[in-house]
Amino acid sequence: MVKGTYYFPEGFLWGTATAAHQVEGRSLNDTWHAWEEEEGRILNGEKAGLACDWWGGRWREDFDRAQATGQNAHRLSIAWSRIQPAPDVWDEDALDRYREMLMGLRDRKMTPMVTLHHFTDPIWVAELGGWENEAVVDLYAKFVHKSVRALMPYCNLWVTINEPNVFMVSGYLDGAFPPGKNDLNTALLVMQNLIRAHGKAYDAIHDLQPQARVGVAINYRGFKPASGWPFDGLAAKALHTLFNDLFPRTTKDGVFNTIIKKERIPEVAGKLDFLGLNYYSTDLVRFAPFARQDMYTQRFYPEDAPQSETGFIAHVPEGFEECVRWGAQYGLPMIITENGVEDSQDDLRTRYLVEHLHALWMAMNNNLPVEGYFHWSLVDNFEWERGWSQRFGLWGLDLETQARIRRPSVDLYAEICRLNGISSAVVEKYAPEALGRLFPDSLAGSD
Ligand code: GAL
Repeated sequence: MVKGTYYFPEGFLWGTATAAHQVEGRSLNDTWHAWEEEEGRILNGEKAGLACDWWGGRWREDFDRAQATGQNAHRLSIAWSRIQPAPDVWDEDALDRYREMLMGLRDRKMTPMVTLHHFTDPIWVAELGGWENEAVVDLYAKFVHKSVRALMPYCNLWVTINEPNVFMVSGYLDGAFPPGKNDLNTALLVMQNLIRAHGKAYDAIHDLQPQARVGVAINYRGFKPASGWPFDGLAAKALHTLFNDLFPRTTKDGVFNTIIKKERIPEVAGKLDFLGLNYYSTDLVRFAPFARQDMYTQRFYPEDAPQSETGFIAHVPEGFEECVRWGAQYGLPMIITENGVEDSQDDLRTRYLVEHLHALWMAMNNNLPVEGYFHWSLVDNFEWERGWSQRFGLWGLDLETQARIRRPSVDLYAEICRLNGISSAVVEKYAPEALGRLFPDSLAGSD
């Protein structure tokens, strides 16, 4: 066997990512709580409930675990609905609670990254029309201003909006997220408002904190034509343009350009300090002339790709390298803000982890500037419309007792974080099935 280590640059951020509604528990004032109360919205009628009880203080023990296992960063989100429960009410206690969490990271020598919007909104915002009403742009900027002013002594790395593309598709095209709509025009209007809101938030943050670094987290999905038929190629390209490209391209050029709607939004041009990338999987795409609901496409996973426990994710690490190469075209530093797999038994996760990190290393070795990697997630948490059916945590969660269950991937990830690299010894120990791919004999060369 070839021995060696793929090292990452000095100062690389190694962490995990979480989101407020998924881990905090008892978040009663937001759109997702209301959604969970509606029948048929969440698989098996499950609810976030107490979640990982971070609002009750269990973030402390989880941060301890993260720190003790070599992580030097953490990405969390704050909930607008807690900080501004009504249009003219600001909850200082909620801000104190977040301040405490960020101080908790600082005390553990972990770099915080804060997401200011991760899928949920206050109910009162939804009642005003949510992201379909342009008024949301200023409302959101006001919330950002208030929150950043309170939290900036502890953080300078901000993600304005998590996955605007998923928020648009799931809320306004496939209807899995609130408000459960299915209308392309509305979806595009929402995307424009998200982009404008990002621009205003960018300015608000930089006014307060000139040294801030402000980005967005895009969910990059690989879309590959299922065959050589030109229509499959066009279908894959159309999805890529709408889903992956729209937000970062508009934020670069100031032009919102889609087949059915084109508009200049010059005030957002150049307003990204880094690009956050969330990568999970890659689809094969076929043109499907009758599938209007699915944008005239049919998507499925490559046959030879192993799938996650519920079939939600296919293991396609080469798509991760493509993701980073795609992201590089925007000329910005990149941070991997999410990557992971649902796997309660930890059968696939160790392999998924090392092969994805290797793909990332390959991209970085071509001089693509990536500053950190946040694994999704630290501990099992509430997976939106899929409820508790999917387990993405390095640590498992026993919902009844709140006990954390240490999965083998914890130790694998700890060794990677501490070494700042992936060694053949670590791969052999935790994911021997990946050795052939990461350390093939051919690497030894011949003489
Ligand atoms: C992302 C989302 C996360 C998490 C993850 C795994 O799209 O940002 O909140 O749910 O998927 O499903």
